[in-house]
Amino acid sequence: MTEIEVKNISFSYEQKIPVLENIAFCAGTGEAIGLIGANGAGKSTLLKLLVGLDLGYTGEIRVGDVVLGKKTLAAVRKKIGYVFQDSDSQMFMTTVEEDIAFAPRNYGLSREETALRVERALEQVHIKALRDKSIYKLSGGEKKLASIATVLSMDPDIILMDEPSVALDPKNRRNLIRVINELKGIKIIASHDLDFIWDTCERTILIHNGRIVCDGDTEMILRDKELLEANGLELPLSLYIRR
Ligand SMILES: Nc1ncnc2c1ncn2[C@@H]1O[C@H](COP(=O)(O)OP(=O)(O)OP(=O)(O)O)[C@@H](O)[C@H]1O
Ligand SMILES: [Mg+2]
Repeated sequence: MTEIEVKNISFSYEQKIPVLENIAFCAGTGEAIGLIGANGAGKSTLLKLLVGLDLGYTGEIRVGDVVLGKKTLAAVRKKIGYVFQDSDSQMFMTTVEEDIAFAPRNYGLSREETALRVERALEQVHIKALRDKSIYKLSGGEKKLASIATVLSMDPDIILMDEPSVALDPKNRRNLIRVINELKGIKIIASHDLDFIWDTCERTILIHNGRIVCDGDTEMILRDKELLEANGLELPLSLYIRR
């Protein structure tokens, strides 16, 4: 199984204002890591860099034994499934089914295998009924579920999810927690839904102003009121019912 190593990544979009500074961490086989931090902290930017959407950073990202770069981009992308924060950026085919089939088909799987993958992904997030629906006619939550299914059908070694629980009703949110917990590869999940992180990730990385403030046990971090508040966050709501 693949590992990820992020070595001292620094990045800015424009005007040299740093958005990420000296980000360093490793993710081992089967690890699930929550990425938390206030609006604008740099979570989505970090995920985008991990999937190679912008290569203009200093430092190094290694996926397995491959260093991410122009020449290795295609090979690295094949291993990574990425759920965008904005589902509209994710899907571009006409129907839900076509979108979910896109990655497996593109990676050269047979028609039969692709059909199986599509069926499984539709089932996993409970959207079989939406199979033939145009992606432009989906509700907000349906769109999120479909975008997650497009990644599940890839069966990737690494899954990066940006705000996967946004717009989901309680039942679909609970189902997604179960689906994520059954996935075997490396998972990195950025979210403001700290309870979702609690239920899916044993480890959490807290980012503030583009820097890692804390990297450790999720429960320790999410119970630390002072730490959370010092970094623009609040205790998870469910803390009042958790022991
Ligand atoms: N394409 C871009 N061009 C210029 N600046 C950008 C761009 N995308 C993001 N930024 C800036 O980079 C910083 C980090 O943004 P990012 O989207 O990574 O934050 P985030 O932690 O994901 O926030 P949120 O919780 O709101 O999703 C912000 O200050 C944002 O304004
Ligand atoms: Mg974001």
